[in-house]
Amino acid sequence: MQVCKVRPSLITRGAVALILSTLLLVQCRNTLQPSGIYGTYTHAKECMRAIRLAAYQNLAFSDGSLPNCLRMAFHDAATYRRSRDTGGANGSVLNEVAAGNYSAHAGLNICHDKVLDIVPRIRADACPELTYADAIAVLGAAAAEMAGFQSIPMLLGRPDNLTAFDDVDGFVGECFDSDAQIKFWAEAGMSDPTKAAVTLSSAHGVGTVRVSPVNNCKLGTGPMTPSSRTFDNHYYDVAANPSAYPRQRLLFSDRLLANGSATSGLFETYRTDQSAWAAAFTQQFQEMTMLGVQPSGGYGVNDGWCDGCGEYRGLAVRSSSLPGVFRGLPDLFP
Ligand code: HEM
Repeated sequence: MQVCKVRPSLITRGAVALILSTLLLVQCRNTLQPSGIYGTYTHAKECMRAIRLAAYQNLAFSDGSLPNCLRMAFHDAATYRRSRDTGGANGSVLNEVAAGNYSAHAGLNICHDKVLDIVPRIRADACPELTYADAIAVLGAAAAEMAGFQSIPMLLGRPDNLTAFDDVDGFVGECFDSDAQIKFWAEAGMSDPTKAAVTLSSAHGVGTVRVSPVNNCKLGTGPMTPSSRTFDNHYYDVAANPSAYPRQRLLFSDRLLANGSATSGLFETYRTDQSAWAAAFTQQFQEMTMLGVQPSGGYGVNDGWCDGCGEYRGLAVRSSSLPGVFRGLPDLFP
């Protein structure tokens, strides 16, 4: 386990040293610690498989938890603020959702409750060290896979900061135009904010608006696209042709991406090229779920482990037929 140490000599140097040591601690806490948290890479990979399996056993479209957990991975990570080096993928979204007064997170209660149910059971069983931050990120990737997307290799080792309330002021909203969305992703720390904006919003292809409209940028509750249980690039068609899909609930922000001067070209590429979109989504999702977490151990943000990837795909998992530790978990797969 990696221990975050502050050198004593720094602490004795008054207020400046205190600030420095705090910064050191924060940086240390934000470092990816696969072997630090999980002991060995081998065990970390076992934990990865445990989360992916738990996703197949517990997430579903029928109760909304599958798309809700894809969304939660975004809301945990994209609270990173580059200019202040705060927030990011640290599990604090659970805290923020529970507080109930963060309008940006409205509608995330479904996954909140799922995560609080799933993680303690995995901890009691296969992986006592599992962090909520890792679980949230990998559940998001598994949710995409369960909706038919290609497997997304992921890294583990995000430390939790479960008492934090990350800064969600300025969190991207449904009224943001394409330039404002790009600005948001830049401050959130994405290396190519335009690509992030155009690529990542396609998760709305499997989304449902669950919370009543509060402004003119949401058309009401309901599925955002006509095939909202399949995660492919159909999002781009729906967003680019609103009159053809008058009953769908895609957001104003989605429609503005289709027409934005900096975004429309890439939007059209992804609309017409499924493979280009899938490769981009994979890479951007990996990067997003590492926001605020400094890679270490020779791993870069786009590297990942695929242990458990695709292993449970297409299976209506029966808890009695599962190997070892997961017997007894309820079979909620629809
Ligand atoms: C411009 C950026 C974005 C905006 C303005 C935005 C906004 C929203 C809003 C308002 C909802 C409906 C919430 C409700 O009423 O229940 C929603 C749902 C959703 N969002 Fe986003 N979002 C954005 C980007 C993303 C990203 C980057 C992801 C994931 C990678 C994502 C995944 C989802 C999913 C899957 C849902 C459906 C959740 C469910 O069915 O419960 N969104 N989003």
